[in-house]
Order: sequence, then structure tokens, then C-alpha cells
Amino acid sequence: MSPARAPARVAAPAGDPLQEATILARRLRLPYLRTAAAEVVPTARAQRWDPAELLRVLLAEEAHGRDVATIRARRRRAGFPAGKTVDAWDEQASSIPQATQQALRTLEWVTRRENLCICGPSGTGKTHWCEALGQHAIDHGLLVAWFSIEDLGGLVRRHRADDSVAKAIRRIITADLVVVDDIGLLPVSPDAAEGFYRLVDAAYERRSLVVSSNLHPAGFEELMPKTLATATVDRLLHHAHMVVTQGDSFRLAEATAGKGGEAPDLTTAGRSLAATGDNHGHHRGISWPPVGSFDDRLRGEINGH
Ligand SMILES: Nc1ncnc2c1ncn2[C@@H]1O[C@H](COP(=O)(O)OP(=O)(O)O)[C@@H](O)[C@H]1O
Ligand SMILES: [Mg+2]
Repeated sequence: MSPARAPARVAAPAGDPLQEATILARRLRLPYLRTAAAEVVPTARAQRWDPAELLRVLLAEEAHGRDVATIRARRRRAGFPAGKTVDAWDEQASSIPQATQQALRTLEWVTRRENLCICGPSGTGKTHWCEALGQHAIDHGLLVAWFSIEDLGGLVRRHRADDSVAKAIRRIITADLVVVDDIGLLPVSPDAAEGFYRLVDAAYERRSLVVSSNLHPAGFEELMPKTLATATVDRLLHHAHMVVTQGDSFRLAEATAGKGGEAPDLTTAGRSLAATGDNHGHHRGISWPPVGSFDDRLRGEINGH
């Protein structure tokens, strides 16, 4: 009886088996296995590995390479503004309570399809924190999409001609987490207001939205028609965590520190900005910080109370 060899339909190697395996890996589109093989096969040979172990290691390399590539592609597709991550985030320096930060990092609220509203004055880390959370979500296998409110306006304009706005919005909410950053700094165009409403409505109880603004959502009716604002905010806040950022602008602090504290003009400008109440105190009649931060509620919920 002939010894058990490779099945008949697999031709015996004509030359160097590793070289042939490399060609086959290319044909079968296994790029990570192919690259790893050049290093792993000689090691396996030298250390007399069990063939099953070699197979396992090569397949694991391919799986890992694909996972990393998927995450990289998802990051690109999300459209993040600055590439800022949790690593660059200083937890202590933020005015967001640490317990809230930790609760949000668990991403449990995303699996519960709850929303997050983060509001506070300019420069207090809203965009950075939203992006850090978004990047964190991608690292945990979730799909994220990032928009400014005007991006939504552009989307509505592009899709109105062929009546495909609803379809475009449905595509957006294939993401697990949709961020709309910086609402309220600029006037909201009617198209953007429509896009925002449509997004909030479509995502309601189905997907998590993160909204950042220098205004409390109660003030959105100053940005868009009142009926639309009410309907939007109503849905947005129904299952929402409210996070308020406070304090002085990090940007301003960095700018003044960069000048070794010798920037009286900037410092004065910063103080006077705060004193006008444009960033602090009252913003166009809306009390700031808003009455009743929901941070405690968030902590309570996450702790299961
Ligand atoms: N807690 C923090 N840790 C590290 N950097 C921060 C933190 N908060 C804010 N920053 C930095 O300060 C600057 C302003 O923050 P940003 O998120 O743009 O503010 P906002 O969106 O509230 O206007 C950015 O460069 C950001 O990276
Ligand atoms: Mg911002």
C-alpha cells in the first residue's frame, strides 16, 4: 500500500513548495498569509512545528490582517475630522465627569440605541470627545458616520433632484453611530434643517446619534423653523444622555501658553468673550449651563439604578 500522500488532484510540487504556495496565495487573494509565509514557514521548518500549527498561524495572520484593514477602511469611510483618538484625550483635563466618560466608553448606550447630546462653549473638547468615542466604537467593530450639519444640507440638495433623500438617509443609518458635530455655530440652512430632522427621525429608536452643539438642544428652535426644531429635539432627547462641557477654551489656553503667557490681547479677548455671555452665562436668552445636567442620570442608568 502506498503511503498516504496529498489527495490526487493536488499536483506534487514541481519546484520550491513555498514559492508555489506564494503564487497560490496570490491567486486566492490571501495577501497577509502570503507575506507571513515567507517568515513563518522557515521558522516552522527549523522548529519542527506540527503542520496543523503552521496552518493555524498562517490563517490567523490572514484573519488579523483583514480585521485591521476593515477597521482602517471603516475609519476612512466614517469621515472623521481630525484623527483624534482616546489616546490623545486627557480625561482629567476634561470638564466631563470621569464617571460619565467611563460610562460612555463602554458603548453600552450604543447597543441600546440611545443618543448622546454634548453641549458647551467653543473649545471645551466636544469635537475631540465625539471623535474619540467614534474611533473607539470603530475599534470595537461598530460602523460610524460623521457629519457636520451642513453636510446634511448638501446631501439633501444632491438627492432632492431624483427624490432619493429618504434612501440616502437610510444609507447613513446603516452605521451604528452617527455623529452630527457643531450644530449652532453657523446659521442652519433650510436644507440642513430638513436633513437633520430626517436623520433624527430615521434613527429614532433604531440607531445612536451623537450631536454636539454650543447650544442646549432647547435652543435649536433659534436655528431652524420652530415646528421642525420641536419635532427634531423631541425625538433626539427621548432616549438621550446629556453631557455638558464647561470652562475656558482649550484652544485659547494653548494659544496663550504658546506665547509664554505674554499675550495680553488674546487673554483679554478670551475674558471679554466669556463676559459678554456669548460662550458662557446666557446664550441668546437660553440659560447656560442649562438647567439640570443629565450626567447623574447617565451614571445612574449605567450603574443599573
Ligand atoms: N480633554 C482633552 N484632552 C486633550 N485635548 C483636548 C481636551 N479637550 C479639548 N482638547 C483640545 O482642545 C482643542 C479644542 O477642542 P475641540 O474638541 O475642538 O472643542 P469644541 O469642539 O468644544 O469647540 C482641540 O485641539 C482638542 O484636541
Ligand atoms: Mg467642535
